[in-house]
Parts: sequence; structure tokens; C-alpha cells
Amino acid sequence: MNGLSTVRYVPIEDKMFVLPIMRKCAELYCRIWKEPPWEESYWIPPMFMAQIRTAFARRGYVGLLALCADNPGVYASVVGFIWGYLARSGDITDVSSNQCLPDSIFRLYPEVFYLAELGVDPAYRNRGIGTQLSRDLIDKLKGQGSQPISLRTHIDDIPGRNIYAGLGFEELPIADRQFSPHTYWLLAPGK
Ligand SMILES: CC(C)(COP(=O)(O)OP(=O)(O)OC[C@H]1O[C@@H](n2cnc3c(N)ncnc32)[C@H](O)[C@@H]1OP(=O)(O)O)[C@@H](O)C(=O)NCCC(=O)NCCS
Repeated sequence: MNGLSTVRYVPIEDKMFVLPIMRKCAELYCRIWKEPPWEESYWIPPMFMAQIRTAFARRGYVGLLALCADNPGVYASVVGFIWGYLARSGDITDVSSNQCLPDSIFRLYPEVFYLAELGVDPAYRNRGIGTQLSRDLIDKLKGQGSQPISLRTHIDDIPGRNIYAGLGFEELPIADRQFSPHTYWLLAPGK
């Protein structure tokens, strides 16, 4: 197992979509969402590619990969990913089972950055990679100005909840209308 010093965090850019690295990311993405508590057995790589391309085209998109060196200096393995984009009331679809973010979020803020995806390879978990991906993304957003960040996760996603709480997110009293174990979280600007 490689140590943490061999992990690099790089932006996901459109020129990467044709590279083998994105096929590795697709494989990881499909594997991760099949795990409990998600149990999303339907993910296949072409769906991932459509998902990331759609996200990439959205306003305010930011995404990062965590890459690990298979051989000294060669960062060929994708061990984690994170991405999101800006959302206003009603202008975003397919981000949740409601097809759009709950309006109660936009009563607090007219626009939020929606952190859509975060995942780390099970073999590399509990080493701070998920936290670092989240931190790097938040730092990037702070560099672009102060904006609230929202996300949704499962109440049984203990590692995810730990990360978000540790970074200052607060769980909102808003459950997903279709999947009630999914709740929304918010990192207020300036936190
Ligand atoms: C959530 C996820 C990205 C975390 O990645 P990671 O690299 O292991 O995260 P980190 O090592 O940075 O931190 C995980 C935190 O949860 C804790 N944790 C990990 N596994 C745990 C467990 N089984 N029970 C309790 N706490 C646990 C860690 O101790 C750490 O907390 P700390 O910083 O207070 O010590 C990873 O578990 C994952 O990909 N899960 C599936 C997808 C998912 O749920 N994504 C997030 C929701 S959208």
C-alpha cells in the first residue's frame, strides 16, 4: 500500500475525458455507489461518463481527482474524486431524487455550490483522502469568493458525516422527499 505522501490532488479537466485515467475513475465510481448504504447497483461506466460531462458543463463546476503513484512518480491510479457546481432554485435537475434541490435551501441563500459527488477507493480509506479532497475543493471555492456549499448524504454514511461535520457543515432539518434517510447539509459562507 502506498503512503499518503504519494497521493496528488488534480483538477478534473475536459481534456482528461479521453484519457485512461477517466476509465479508472468510472470503474471506481461505479464500484463505490454499489456499496451500502447506497446500494446503487445500476451504475455502469457510460453512465458515469454522461454524469461527469453533464456536471462539467454546469455553471461553476469544480472537480478534483486523488491520484496515487503505482510506480515511483507515475500517478496512474484514481483513488478518489469530488465535484460539484452552482445551483439556484429550480434551475438544476437530476441532482437528487426530487429532481432538484429543496427550495428551503434557497430560502437561506439564492445560490449554493452543490457538492454532488465524493468517493474514495475502499483500499485507501481512513487516511484522510476524503477530507483532503473536500478541503481542497472548499479552498478552491473560497479563492473564487464566498459562497454557501450544500450537499446531501445518507444518515448511515458515518465517514462522510464525520468529514462534513469536521469541516464545519451543519446538517439541515431537511430530508429528501423520496429517500428520507438522505439529509441535506450546509456550509455557510465564511465558515
Ligand atoms: C466518505 C468517504 C469519501 C470517506 O473517505 P476517506 O478517505 O476514508 O475519509 P477520511 O479518511 O478523510 O475521513 C473519514 C472520517 O470518518 C471516520 N471513519 C471512517 N470510517 C469510519 C467508520 N466505519 N465508523 C466511524 N468513523 C469512520 C474517520 O475516522 C474520519 O473521521 P476523523 O477525521 O474525525 O478521524 C468514503 O468512505 C467513501 O467513498 N464512501 C462511499 C461514498 C460516500 O459515502 N461518499 C460521501 C457521501 S456523498
